[in-house]
Amino acid sequence: MGLIFCLSGAGPAKVDTVRTGGAKPLKSHVLLAPFMTTKRKPVAFGDLRGWMKALDTAGELRHVEAEVDWNVELGTIARLAQGPGTGPALLFNNIRDYSANSRCHQVFTGGLSSPRRVAMMLGLEPDTHPRELVKLGRTVLNETIAPKIVKTGPVKENVVEGKDVDLYEFPVPQWNRIDGGRYILTYGGVVTKDPDTGVMNVGIYRGMVAAKDKIPILMWRAQHIGHHVTAWQQAGHKEMPIAVAIGWEPSLGFVGGAPVPKGLCEYDVMGAIRGAPVDLVKCETVDLHVPATSEIVIEGYLGLEPDTYMMEGPFAEFTGYVAGDRSPKPTIRVTCITHRTDPILRGTIEGSMPGSFSENGTCSSIMRAAAAWNVLDRAGVPGVTDVWCPPVQTGINVLVQIKQSYRGQAKQVANALWGSSAAHVRYKHVTVVDDDIDIHDYAAVDWAVAHRVNAGENDIVIMPATFGAGLDPSTRRRDRNVAQFGTGKWNRLLIDATVNLDYDPDPDLGGARFPPTVWPAPDDVAAAKARWSELGLDRPKR
Ligand SMILES: Cc1cc2nc3c(=O)[nH]c(=O)nc-3n(C[C@H](O)[C@H](O)[C@H](O)COP(=O)(O)O)c2cc1C
Repeated sequence: MGLIFCLSGAGPAKVDTVRTGGAKPLKSHVLLAPFMTTKRKPVAFGDLRGWMKALDTAGELRHVEAEVDWNVELGTIARLAQGPGTGPALLFNNIRDYSANSRCHQVFTGGLSSPRRVAMMLGLEPDTHPRELVKLGRTVLNETIAPKIVKTGPVKENVVEGKDVDLYEFPVPQWNRIDGGRYILTYGGVVTKDPDTGVMNVGIYRGMVAAKDKIPILMWRAQHIGHHVTAWQQAGHKEMPIAVAIGWEPSLGFVGGAPVPKGLCEYDVMGAIRGAPVDLVKCETVDLHVPATSEIVIEGYLGLEPDTYMMEGPFAEFTGYVAGDRSPKPTIRVTCITHRTDPILRGTIEGSMPGSFSENGTCSSIMRAAAAWNVLDRAGVPGVTDVWCPPVQTGINVLVQIKQSYRGQAKQVANALWGSSAAHVRYKHVTVVDDDIDIHDYAAVDWAVAHRVNAGENDIVIMPATFGAGLDPSTRRRDRNVAQFGTGKWNRLLIDATVNLDYDPDPDLGGARFPPTVWPAPDDVAAAKARWSELGLDRPKR
């Protein structure tokens, strides 16, 4: 074990100021009024431990006491336990090679792999319908409560610097057998700073242990961290300061993995979600700030010169496929690790598949739908009544429900979405339905696609060769070369499953364009229901 300094207690005094880019602090409820029908009570859990306590009380957390191998077994259990939004969060307390005397011996995962727990994080009843979570998501990413700088905090209890840094002292899982290595960064908030404005960004980016003090990461130029890389390079720097906060309140992962507008710091948004400022401490070796009650903080410099890159990948990715080829990637040179005593390593198993939805899939189903709805609003598309991205596909497909008032409205929806920067790695397939179709009901959407889509009447539209995700297995390997093209390549698809307003109104149908459905008239339904008991149909099935 390396050199350790002991410090204790978070200093409450405001000792510094920090540029986070937030607007004037807003009270959370102010912007909710137009969208939300459910009231929320923001909760400040304090840290990862406070969040775990809340999960325990709600019966949402399982403690795994039996020994589990960090090498493949832990990840396999996490993936199997996930379920379709129904599995528990997991705390692994007994990990092979990491006894209670190790620097770290616990791993927490799955905190946000269920809509119930996302609702709890947002200060809502656990059984709040995901539709309400999407509506809240529309406002919550634009709200701000500025963070507070404090002198110190629990994350400074242990400080390890220089040659004493050894990432192998942490029980970093080899999450999947096919991964290129042990991934320490799966749900940590990666903090960087714009060199011109000083505004920090916090994003989730994957990172693999390549040596005791080296972490190559997957960094795309189009992401905000990529903007920072470009800016630091253009200013003539060979390295960029970076810090990763691992293990804090759930809003860290939720907001870090969501499309927060550029120039707005994620710490401000986390403050709004929890209804109180985030207490931040300054890093030891870089000029960046991290939550004072983080479990673990990794500080260092990201190499910007290709000759410092190290091999990274592949990784079991959010698509549910292995992706991101093994290749040289920008690498963090770790200068310092600070951590709480007995820190808990927060990680996540990536990749949603049928029957097993990831934390990313669950959060994306809400945030990517909310972001799409806001894009449509800003573009002036009228009549949008609901938006949803089922968690199994992490927002690659988006469902939009509209109340049509003119011809071509579904195409306006698709064009608006595809023209937005939010569509870079999302919204490949857009399906638009009328407001009688519940987009949370797969059977309803399928029925609309079956009977309202006519491929010969322009209901199927392909927008070829647009920007898109570099991790998509359906894209040819050549076109996934982000280094060569700057982005992936997507042929996008609109499925217009609305009733076609280009058809002439039919006088035989009283001016309607489609015939009536077979569902009985309300009076006939009421009459039949009134006899339900007499007919013996209200008895439970044997
Ligand atoms: C678990 C998880 C892992 C992710 N891994 C990566 C990654 O390796 N690289 C990347 O560019 N984005 C990754 N993302 C997506 C980004 O976090 C997301 O696009 C976020 O909006 C980026 O922050 P930014 O908007 O500040 O750029 C991941 C998201 C999650 C939730």
